[in-house]
Amino acid sequence: MANYTSLHLLFLLVLLFSNHEVEKRCAWGREMVNREEDDKYVVEMKSLVPATTCKGQANGRGLTLAHRQGPCSPLAANRQSRDSRLIFWRDQRRVRSMNIQGQPSAPTFGDYGENARLPIRGASPGAGEFVVTVGLGTPTVDLTLIFDTGSDITWTQCEPCPSCYPQQDPMFDPSKSTTYSNPPCKESDCPYSIVYADGSQSHGYYVQDLLTLTPDYQFQNFIFGCSQNSSGDFGHTAGMLGLGQGGAALISQISSEFSNIFCYCIPGSESSNGYLLFGLEALSNCQTNNVTPLIIDQNHPSYYFVNLVGIAFGNRKFSLSSQSPRPRTILDSGTTITRLPPQIYSAILAEFMNYMSKYPVAEHASPLLNTCYDLRGQENVILPKMVLQFENTDVNLDPSAVVWRESDAKVCLAVAENQISNDLVIIGSVQQRNLNILYNIQDNKVEFGNGACGD
Ligand SMILES: *[C@@H]1O[C@H](CO)[C@@H](O)[C@H](O)[C@H]1NC(C)=O
Repeated sequence: MANYTSLHLLFLLVLLFSNHEVEKRCAWGREMVNREEDDKYVVEMKSLVPATTCKGQANGRGLTLAHRQGPCSPLAANRQSRDSRLIFWRDQRRVRSMNIQGQPSAPTFGDYGENARLPIRGASPGAGEFVVTVGLGTPTVDLTLIFDTGSDITWTQCEPCPSCYPQQDPMFDPSKSTTYSNPPCKESDCPYSIVYADGSQSHGYYVQDLLTLTPDYQFQNFIFGCSQNSSGDFGHTAGMLGLGQGGAALISQISSEFSNIFCYCIPGSESSNGYLLFGLEALSNCQTNNVTPLIIDQNHPSYYFVNLVGIAFGNRKFSLSSQSPRPRTILDSGTTITRLPPQIYSAILAEFMNYMSKYPVAEHASPLLNTCYDLRGQENVILPKMVLQFENTDVNLDPSAVVWRESDAKVCLAVAENQISNDLVIIGSVQQRNLNILYNIQDNKVEFGNGACGD
């Protein structure tokens, strides 16, 4: 009897402690009554519905990471509601290309010395869903670029541009910048050329100039592409910010100064902003408490590989190590929906249906997301909890990471199935929502923590 009581007490303490943790996290965002239990989240229905106006950012540091479409987009023309069909189409193209022949092909490096290893040609997976605004040149021109950890080259459309798509920001004109110079290149015009999986492309030449990340954070002689011929799915952005770890990426260029470290928080919905921080700013402002090794792969030098051992979902645990051959896992901000091996996907789907059985089934959102429920009239929704079990650490995902909100009251399981069992397991941006993810390339590790960019 005494044992039973003390066990009871222990359970209560654990409950108290875990509730406390959740409250602490929520103190950063707007107040909410969401609860987290061992196997499930109890989510206020309201919190699944994004606002029609932008709620802004909880922590005012670093660069603002915003959804390309929706109320927080810095691109006025894109502030209409999100287009799921386009997002899923783009996502499928990206994932397919990442699995074909180990794309993107490793950039070829010229022999231009330590600080200017420039890819001459590169293939990349294609545009992502989030944008950041950085400054280039002197005086600074603010440019809104697509944020992508899966590609290497940063580029913007430059004046004069014989064949460019319309962008919102004024076009960067190197000849008007007092800090502009030519990078140390063998060929006089230092060309680059990048073709993305969705057929989008950008061709031009490399330049170097002052990069202003935040007013206190500048980087001189940053090498980027000046596009003279670009077309495709770039919305009204001014180009791409490539944060892959390949040769000419921003990260490896700024390594000396910023120690190969960056951290971001993907917003919980289109009506919240996330953030992106570099170097010491990332270390001191991005709270993390989980660490897993970052794995380098010479055949895919841009991608961030991690060792995903298993996934806990609801009351069940699924091991990836029992799969043969064992698929490899990358973290990718440019893929929206996480891709899982067929066997694990089926088991997760069954568990999801089990938890959702009391809600009416809704029509599928797309072939990609085919298990949806109608939550009209619900006040609180119970969702199975998802935990990613990486080597050395378990990462609890945010409730917003489990379902894709297709319309106000319709939600769908936000993971999809790989075509074959050894396709890459890709942890996409929906599952990264409201987490701080810190890439420490210098020390070969990735850290996770509760973010401050939820709804
Ligand atoms: C732009 O690039 C495409 C694809 O390489 C090419 O077909 C086209 O002629 C180029 N346009 C100009 C104006 O250079």
